[in-house]
Amino acid sequence: MNFWPTMQKMLSPDDAGKSAPAPNAGRTAAALKPLPDDALIIIPLRNAVLFPGIMSPVTVGRPSSVAAAQEAARSERRAGFLLQRDPEKNELRPDDLHWVGTAGQIVRYITGAEGAHHLVVQGQSRFRVLEFLDGWPFMVARVALVETAEESSPEIEARFLQLKERAIEAIQLLPNVPDELAGVVQAMNSPALLADMVANLLDVKNEEKQTVLETFDLKRRLDKVLALLGERVEVLRLSKEIGDKTRKEFDERQREHVLREQMRQIQKELGEGEETAAEIEELKKAIDDAGMPEDVHKHAVKELKRLRRMGEGSAEGSMLRTYLEWLSELPWKTEPGKPIDIAEARKVLDEDHYGLDKIKRRILEYLAVKKLNPAGKSPILCFVGPPGVGKTSLGQSIARATGRKFQRVALGGTHDEAEIRGHRRTYIGALPGNIIQAIRRAESRTGVLMLDEIDKLGAGGFHGDPSSALLEVLDPEQNSKFRDNYLGVDFDLSKVMFIVTANVLDTIPGPLRDRMEVIHLPGYTEEEKLEIAMRYLVKRQLEANGLKPEQAILTEAAIKTIIRDYTREAGVRNLEREIGSVLRSAAMKIAEGHAESVTVDASDLHAILGPRKFEDELALRTALPGVATGLAWTPVGGDILFIEATKVPGSGKLILTGQLGDVMKESAQAALTLAKMYSGEPLEKTDLHVHVPAGATPKDGPSAGVAMFMALVSLLAGRPVRSDVAMTGEISLRGLVLPIGGVKEKVLAALRAGIKTVMLPKRNQKDLEDVPVAAREKLEFVWLETVEDAVRCAVGVDMGQLFKSKDDTPPGACEAEG
Ligand SMILES: Nc1ncnc2c1ncn2[C@@H]1O[C@H](COP(=O)(O)OP(=O)(O)O)[C@@H](O)[C@H]1O
Ligand SMILES: [Mg+2]
Repeated sequence: MNFWPTMQKMLSPDDAGKSAPAPNAGRTAAALKPLPDDALIIIPLRNAVLFPGIMSPVTVGRPSSVAAAQEAARSERRAGFLLQRDPEKNELRPDDLHWVGTAGQIVRYITGAEGAHHLVVQGQSRFRVLEFLDGWPFMVARVALVETAEESSPEIEARFLQLKERAIEAIQLLPNVPDELAGVVQAMNSPALLADMVANLLDVKNEEKQTVLETFDLKRRLDKVLALLGERVEVLRLSKEIGDKTRKEFDERQREHVLREQMRQIQKELGEGEETAAEIEELKKAIDDAGMPEDVHKHAVKELKRLRRMGEGSAEGSMLRTYLEWLSELPWKTEPGKPIDIAEARKVLDEDHYGLDKIKRRILEYLAVKKLNPAGKSPILCFVGPPGVGKTSLGQSIARATGRKFQRVALGGTHDEAEIRGHRRTYIGALPGNIIQAIRRAESRTGVLMLDEIDKLGAGGFHGDPSSALLEVLDPEQNSKFRDNYLGVDFDLSKVMFIVTANVLDTIPGPLRDRMEVIHLPGYTEEEKLEIAMRYLVKRQLEANGLKPEQAILTEAAIKTIIRDYTREAGVRNLEREIGSVLRSAAMKIAEGHAESVTVDASDLHAILGPRKFEDELALRTALPGVATGLAWTPVGGDILFIEATKVPGSGKLILTGQLGDVMKESAQAALTLAKMYSGEPLEKTDLHVHVPAGATPKDGPSAGVAMFMALVSLLAGRPVRSDVAMTGEISLRGLVLPIGGVKEKVLAALRAGIKTVMLPKRNQKDLEDVPVAAREKLEFVWLETVEDAVRCAVGVDMGQLFKSKDDTPPGACEAEG
């Protein structure tokens, strides 16, 4: 057997053959009594585990082990290799050994220098010791061989493939592994052998390897090896990442530092160095004028003295100088924020944003409280909603409305506390964190500071938790003494107006969430989008493309078509982008002299933007029995979800695919039980497969219950579900439809997708208030108390008729309420 050619090559150099395979032949033979058939000569291993199928070098030193190895080699018998429990122990008794090991053939015996004996052993099969026998000058034991059956089942196959993949990944992460190894792994076709080979190569304790050896069941062994390998791969990947990241950060800082140095040298050469004294004076003046609190000023003056002494030429001098510049340029003086004029604020908010009445009212209330009690600790506004609904731009608008400076700190992907709080000055190229940087850019500490996308904050890693640093920034009890690591002195953030944005609330760390006053922005209806486009987006895009309003006209029909057929979103971001593309093409025409002005109508869009992006998916997908349209809540504003069910020959199982969460899986089970109950069809020889096509929609929660049930009964009854109906609701095993959340988002998503009728749990009726009137008017709502209501509306027949032949049942209709 030769499963690992590279190892084989390594272990059999040509000169190894010079030592005879059976040294000392005949010398000990005469004195020994013969071994029973089921006995093996035992060679204890201090520090290694031999695996079946693996060729491995073994060194023996103890006289009894040497005798054992020689006898095994002489008689060409297999020997049994057992791991010792305590590697330090010399005199061994049976209990000092593990009783499961590998029998192997000694294929080379090499007597090295200084009397060491080296073996090359080909591991062959697992065995378990039955009993140790006396009477030989080495250990002997009666054993039972344990052969792993090369069974094959889908479960083993799946683990085998996964193990291959992971092993190859590990090989690629390891620096000094021969390239051929990946190929060898790829070509292997024995799961048992792969598991043993990986276990053999893994850099884990011998005790761990021994447990792999002792796991006779192949499936469990594969699982064990996968787990061990998984851990190693994680560690390898992390250490590679850390290596890469530190190198990169260091390179960047280093580079900046070197450049600065070169600049100073050049300045010196050019005779500009003379000015340093004057420059230091300038810095002194800046420090004196900055309006620092007394202790900070004292500290700055002391550092300045140090700088004078040091001279600017030195590397440390230039770092110190940068530091003092930072200190002197921060807006220490507390300019009293302009008094808030509520009427003016209302005007500005209305100018900048269409609609959003409820939200604007909340903002004005917030400002009114701030106005009446400027010193009070008001909560922090937090805008939550899908992308493109105006969260960031509302923040800008608030700044404009209150006459304050606006700065934004993007928190997405912030992993490192230092990004928020800065690096200590001892770091080469250290800088303040992004809060202090934003304050300096704003040149004010009473401005509006937006912490954008706080829900995308990375989890704290080895560099400290960024969310705890933010907590300090946002805590009115602490933020008057905010300490940035770079500055090393307190800075008062208590007058900053913080505004936070997020797509979803639930990934925001709890303590942070508690500080905030959350305002939800759910998304816009088609009509609202049309208004926003006509009032704001077209205007803005005209300007961006250098067009005058009379040069390019986008008809209302064209905008509606863009909204309906080229975008499907809760916000207006893509809408603005598509309008931009249309106007760019108009600008081209005008620039090339083909036209003075361009009017774009709905019929022109195909030529400009290409085929419609969102075709009438509904009709296509739901034409056959077994498909129902569900509604899902998503962080980006709700979406429709096709639930597909089909029958395959099998044994009455339910197969679920589409990466569903646990709750959704359970809800599928419940739907199936209920569907079986109604249909009465025996399904012992059939598997039912329910699939929820992937897409980016997260799929968990109980609210797809009704849709799953409908997909299943539609399949079993052979009747399609109406294509213009979408549904949501949890079901109980008694067929009741229970209430769900996210009604507003789901209804808006249904409308966007071209649904005409929405089926909702009766107990959600009160939530309809939240849905904009324009959307309500365009949809029919059917309120469900039981799944029978759902069947009546979605399939058009009563439950009693559902499973009878189609010809006897006239199609019914929904009893809808507008
Ligand atoms: N109600 C509205 N009225 C006018 N423009 C809007 C409105 N809502 C969003 N916009 C515009 O849509 C674009 C995207 O908004 P943005 O603030 O970036 O969204 P978000 O921060 O929520 O992702 C901006 O140009 C914004 O001005
Ligand atoms: Mg934004």
